Amino acid sequence: MCGIVGYIGQDKATPFLIEGLSKLEYRGYDSAGIAVYNGETIRVEKSLGRLEVLEQKIKGNEPEGSIGVGHTRWATHGRPSDRNSHPHTDCTGKFVVVHNGIIENFMSLKEMLIEKGHTFRSETDTEVVAHLLEEVYEEGELLEDTVRKVLNMVEGSYALVIMSEHDTGKIVCAKQDNPLVIGLGEGENFIASDIPAIIQRTRRTYILSDGEMAVVKSDSVWVYNRDGVPITKKVFEVNWDAEAAEKGGYEHFMIKEIYEQPKAIRETMSARLAKDGSGISLNELKWTKHDLADIKKIFIVACGTAYHAGVVGKYYIEKLARIPVEVDIASEFRYRSPLVDKDTLAIVISQSGETSDTLAALKEVKAMGARTLAVTNVVGSSIAREADNVLYTWAGPEIAVASTKAYTTQLIMMFMLAVYMGQLNGKVAPERAAELVEALKQVPTQIHEMLEDVEPIKTFATKYGFNEDVFFVGRSLDYAVALEGSLKLKEISYIHAEAYAAGELKHGTLALIVEGIPVIALATQEDIYDKTVNNIKEIKARDAVVIGIALEGDKNIAKYVDHTIFVPRTNSLLAPLLAVIPLQLLAYYAAITRGCDVDKPRNLAKSVTVE
Ligand code: F6R
Repeated sequence: MCGIVGYIGQDKATPFLIEGLSKLEYRGYDSAGIAVYNGETIRVEKSLGRLEVLEQKIKGNEPEGSIGVGHTRWATHGRPSDRNSHPHTDCTGKFVVVHNGIIENFMSLKEMLIEKGHTFRSETDTEVVAHLLEEVYEEGELLEDTVRKVLNMVEGSYALVIMSEHDTGKIVCAKQDNPLVIGLGEGENFIASDIPAIIQRTRRTYILSDGEMAVVKSDSVWVYNRDGVPITKKVFEVNWDAEAAEKGGYEHFMIKEIYEQPKAIRETMSARLAKDGSGISLNELKWTKHDLADIKKIFIVACGTAYHAGVVGKYYIEKLARIPVEVDIASEFRYRSPLVDKDTLAIVISQSGETSDTLAALKEVKAMGARTLAVTNVVGSSIAREADNVLYTWAGPEIAVASTKAYTTQLIMMFMLAVYMGQLNGKVAPERAAELVEALKQVPTQIHEMLEDVEPIKTFATKYGFNEDVFFVGRSLDYAVALEGSLKLKEISYIHAEAYAAGELKHGTLALIVEGIPVIALATQEDIYDKTVNNIKEIKARDAVVIGIALEGDKNIAKYVDHTIFVPRTNSLLAPLLAVIPLQLLAYYAAITRGCDVDKPRNLAKSVTVE
């Protein structure tokens, strides 16, 4: 999730590249770089930090030339640093590449290229593309032909923008699962990963589709399919204002991020699924079965939504790897003298990687001798640096205060970790691992399908108004999701909401269930389904309005609830990933109905760096 820009025309490229990147900093801001061709050579300038650092670096000595590319980075492979910043070049410096996405097979390609004598300067997956171009290039070849050969070798997702000293006067782009837009000008053309970068210059665009390549010159743009067959593209006239464009045409970042979940999940999991479909391979950890045998107890420590991901993670690890897990709120954990020693593994979960309570808890358990593992979304964050091992979620920047795509990618990561541990200690047999991976692979598509029709959820949110109190109930994993659904509603719509383990209601809370009270009842867990239905009956008997969340094909639930929202049928362990989607949407539309500031709820900050 980075930002890409490109320019080719008669003007100086650098001013547009900097201007375009400044509009994309919301997509990534740990480093930035540009490359400009001056008629003889390509000059690359890049630096760690925000764009202004790069601007200062080149001030008074800006790269000259009217063809160039630029990039603002949100690190995935390789920590934020000058060397890992884009653009990347081959050994000769004649091929220049900027890239969004993940080249999944970069490790094997890198090994092959090193064997052939290539020297790598960065830890990124992107750099392999530059060296591959150098490797397959034949004298006199068109750049688009060289690029096409390389695309046949890489696996993964990408928006690639490439220029070369071997074939100048053009920029070649390719798109797979990452956005790429060509802005059409007069005697000049623009390239960007996102529309905000170009709408100051032109509103006429070609939006590239997956599998398409474009050859962009100052006076022409040709689009081809992967086989080199030209495609006639329709011009898309952008009529969004600058603010709407940043949100990709969505009204708020939160809803944009809800819709980004299929992609974020795919990115987080794809490189970690064993190629033969046999299970999960977490190459980042390199644990042996002996390492795992030493772990007698696991603590999961986090705050807020990340804590809720931890609650799901406990179920996963205990169920699949059969290792005891305790989940703790970071601010509580630190002050309760936890029993931690060298046989303890502490897993901290944090989207930002900067949450002060979580960081402090991590430092404390480390000092007590525990092994530590961070699950975070921000490469090079304080928590990532402090932990012994890191598993990155690749959700991309999350801007809305209310966490959505970070949560679902955290669940995916915890699920993969649990399967991986179970594979290592023999608790998950190979057939079971393959079956779980098969179900996991369906999740992005299932979420995508759910997001195609949100009208019924909008209707619930407006019809019930959710004015005062709302209860969320469920058992086992459904309870864990109820916790997250209730937090989402509270934080953005300011409605009082409570999550209860459905079996616990009768021990007190049932006194609050009266006529007309909205209750969201989750019933996706088949092993405990009958018990959940009994609890729903207790609620219904008090004349509450019950909205059931159930698996598709459940013909029974309608008898006990007022309305049902169905989620696609999946393995019970993966149901939280689907069940949370309507809850995120309910919170979003309830907040809209109530006129709340969805992306910046009152009293809250995105990253809580105070205790
Ligand atoms: C809720 C939310 C917060 C965060 C919490 C931890 O939507 O976003 O509850 O989950 O502040 O933040 P991270 O994950 O950055 O440690």
